[in-house]
Amino acid sequence: MRILITGGAGFIGSNYIHYILEQYPKDTIINLDALTYAGNLENLKDIEDNPNYKFVHGDIMDGVLVNELMKDVDTVVHFAAESHVDRSILDSAAFVRTNVNGTLILLEAAKNNGNVRFHHISTDEVYGSLDKDAPPFNETTPYDPHSPYSASKASSDHLVRAYFHTHRLPVTISNCSNNYGPYQFPEKLVPLFVLNLIDDVKIPVYGTGENIRDWLHVSDHCKAIDKIVREGTIGETYCIGGDAEKTNMEITNIILNAMGKGEEMIEHVEDRKGHDKRYAINFDKIKNELSWEPDVTFEEGITETIEWYKNNEKWWRNIKSGEYQEYYNKQYGNK
Ligand code: NAD
Ligand code: TYD
Repeated sequence: MRILITGGAGFIGSNYIHYILEQYPKDTIINLDALTYAGNLENLKDIEDNPNYKFVHGDIMDGVLVNELMKDVDTVVHFAAESHVDRSILDSAAFVRTNVNGTLILLEAAKNNGNVRFHHISTDEVYGSLDKDAPPFNETTPYDPHSPYSASKASSDHLVRAYFHTHRLPVTISNCSNNYGPYQFPEKLVPLFVLNLIDDVKIPVYGTGENIRDWLHVSDHCKAIDKIVREGTIGETYCIGGDAEKTNMEITNIILNAMGKGEEMIEHVEDRKGHDKRYAINFDKIKNELSWEPDVTFEEGITETIEWYKNNEKWWRNIKSGEYQEYYNKQYGNK
């Protein structure tokens, strides 16, 4: 395959690039990334000289560039997005710009270049929030996004489906639960808490910490995406989950225990506005149709993830100091 990956310098995209280059040495990858605060080329340092990999610094909003790149590929895997709920509460405009308008530009270029196969990465947050005992989300759950982030992802999902129905663009969509693992930007719960604890800084639990998320190791997400890209049914949506529902307090205590720290490190802070209570996923469809299910248990995955952050201190210290944004200049010249 010749794959255009958008947002490949972010958390899941960089894990996916590593996965594809390991599994399919004959595939070629173009990684189009704008290097926002969340993009970090240090995530890809080990493969930057791989002849089957090329980085292009650019914005998915650049229609001319996107159109050019589309000519050289047969498949798009679209990760690029503004991805943090808290940021979308403070400033929603960038979310609509990248997640909605940016997706539209990619769809249009895919259509205009011979209907390039298009896989769209989305989130379970488009389905809204569940009560404690409600059945988990599945592919038929009505959309009910609550945050500007999830509303923008929902819009992009609708556009992707519209291009399938209107233009017969060969699309698939995946809606995945919360990921954790290596290279996650330390604004998200797991790396934020681990790194704070390494530095003996308190960890901010929003409200009472009773909110529930379903956690999936990023390597399992990458395998699921790959299955869908290669074997999925065109026009279909697949829900991906980890079978690992946990309250935020459970996650907090697991991390505290694993790091040998006590409850005095917890700081209950003001709750997130409109904080969704619970996300949970029924992934029977991808399990039955594509034989995918998670390989990594939460207990294994979190232990390995904590070790990864402990062993990669330079990676996250560079993020904290802002030095990671200089990496592009050193490697590729001025932005
Ligand atoms: P991330 O924030 O770590 O990375 C996003 C990447 O996109 C960055 O490299 C950034 O530079 C790039 N980018 C942003 N705007 C761009 C633009 N206009 N043009 C080109 N590149 C741009 O995000 P992530 O956590 O890796 O998430 C990737 C995708 O997976 C997103 O679409 C997100 O909605 C989805 N998702 C994430 C999770 C999760 O738990 N992290 C769960 C389900 C779905
Ligand atoms: P997050 O990693 O931001 O993912 P999402 O909101 O997309 O699910 O947050 C996961 C959960 O952790 C969510 O319920 C909010 C909560 N949270 C905290 O309690 N404290 C924090 O500092 C952060 C970043 C999140």
